[in-house]
Amino acid sequence: MKIAIGSDHGGFHAKAEIIRFLQAEQYEVEDFGTHSAESCDYPDIAHKVGEAVVGGECDLGILICGTGIGVSIAANKVPGVRAALCSDTYSARMARAHNNSNVLCMGARVLGTGLMEDIVKAYLTGEFEGGRHARRVDKIEYR
Ligand code: RB5
Repeated sequence: MKIAIGSDHGGFHAKAEIIRFLQAEQYEVEDFGTHSAESCDYPDIAHKVGEAVVGGECDLGILICGTGIGVSIAANKVPGVRAALCSDTYSARMARAHNNSNVLCMGARVLGTGLMEDIVKAYLTGEFEGGRHARRVDKIEYR
């Protein structure tokens, strides 16, 4: 499974930790930046990660900013992205199981990296249940 990952400056250090964690867990990772702790604009990164997932270049995405809020709002503007801002493992698992989420968002100023790793694991190992949830997910796209 190939994971697209990105952050702004607020999530830069946490991103490096999560990349190490993902690689240790044998995931393939593509890093869409940012590549330094210098201030940058989270929508630029969020859109790149969202496009990589929707375009099929990567299977799932992970985005980190200070709160996780900015990247989740921005990623959800990319048609086909279902970004979920998660601060606990239950939500992360359910984001996959019920919402077929394809981008996980987290706040580096909210969570420690230990909890972030647990959330990432719950998200990546979660599985969409389909059935009645598929009907609801189909209705998410605003037509
Ligand atoms: C950057 O200071 C901060 O605003 C950003 O990382 C994020 O939290 C926005 O939602």
